[in-house]
Amino acid sequence: MEGWKEFLEERGRLHLLRRLSPSEDRRPGVAVRGGREYVDFSSNDYLGLSCHPALAAAAREALERYGTGTGASRLMSGDLEIHHELEEEVAAFKGTDAALVFNSGYQANTGIVPALFGRHDAVFADQLSHASQLDGALLSRAKLLRFRHNDPEHLSALLEKHRGAFRRALVMTESVFSMDGDRAPLVPLLDACRRHRCLFMVDEAHATGVFGPEGRGCVEAEGLAGEVELVMGTFSKALGGFGAYLAASRTIVDFLVNSARSFIYSTALPAPVIAADLAALRLCQAGETRGAELLRRSASFRGALRANGWTVGGDSQIVPVVVGGSARAVALSGQLADRGYLALPVRPPTVPEGAARLRFSLTAAHGDSQVRGVVEALGAP
Ligand SMILES: Cc1ncc(COP(=O)(O)O)c(C=O)c1O
Repeated sequence: MEGWKEFLEERGRLHLLRRLSPSEDRRPGVAVRGGREYVDFSSNDYLGLSCHPALAAAAREALERYGTGTGASRLMSGDLEIHHELEEEVAAFKGTDAALVFNSGYQANTGIVPALFGRHDAVFADQLSHASQLDGALLSRAKLLRFRHNDPEHLSALLEKHRGAFRRALVMTESVFSMDGDRAPLVPLLDACRRHRCLFMVDEAHATGVFGPEGRGCVEAEGLAGEVELVMGTFSKALGGFGAYLAASRTIVDFLVNSARSFIYSTALPAPVIAADLAALRLCQAGETRGAELLRRSASFRGALRANGWTVGGDSQIVPVVVGGSARAVALSGQLADRGYLALPVRPPTVPEGAARLRFSLTAAHGDSQVRGVVEALGAP
């Protein structure tokens, strides 16, 4: 079509400038690219479970039994007992009546919000909420209002002003922010929800497996298990697998089975994926994962970077070094790559203009010498 190629090339030059760079091999903490092995500080495989023998064995066994695909969505013939087994264990893990598995975190957030909220409702979202939460709100056609990042007082002021104009309302946040690594003040946010009759939705994608006893997440760590109406999380990060969950009441889960379009109109996750997710959850429950230790090591990594003069954010295993412009972030990332460390730059529009960063995620697979090595390789600003 006339003009489209030029239009897309121009847009690409202005906004994206990003290229896919496949690894020929990977394992926790390691990526092999162009024949070179890098220490990978850009993966969310926080507990190093993606290659754990228990997950691999469970996946292999499910593969033998059920094959590679499920052949249909869950409301058709793709529903397997193992999906229900996982959902029961998630509900017990998160302290709710029920849980529902979604095919990914993106599909969970874009399915849940539009199923529960519509044109006459409002969604109040943290300014730094993940794109999937925002897309869910946009799809719902509810009025979207953004409160200042981690600012319950601003949320309260917005609720004071706008809540009355809407039938129902949702407040949503991440518990550990994916790009900033900081944590949401869940107690005061929940308090604002209660005062203004809002449901509360917390995305625990980056907290699941790492925070709270046995990695149950920040909602549990802050004593709120069973109190937050919608607790969503993923199996794809610390749990080393794939897919996502919503932990909620039985009423909400039953409703979503019949109304969340991303759940209804997508083929069920394959059994080997579900079996690996279950195995990871069981490792957490058996106390065999090391979230607390990872957080201690992340704090000392953050301290070492700050001592060298860097602007470092966060309060989790995600350690952003904010460097300003995109070009500087790209240059620093290149410098680290030359020394064998993969810490990829995160640039606008993923983060605000002027806040480009190197996003380090520390994992249980990184050795102390690798952590010291990357601090030394980054040097001082
Ligand atoms: C906070 C948050 N929510 C949801 C998602 C989406 O999860 P998934 O990768 O399973 O689609 C991500 C991951 O990118 C995330 O960081």
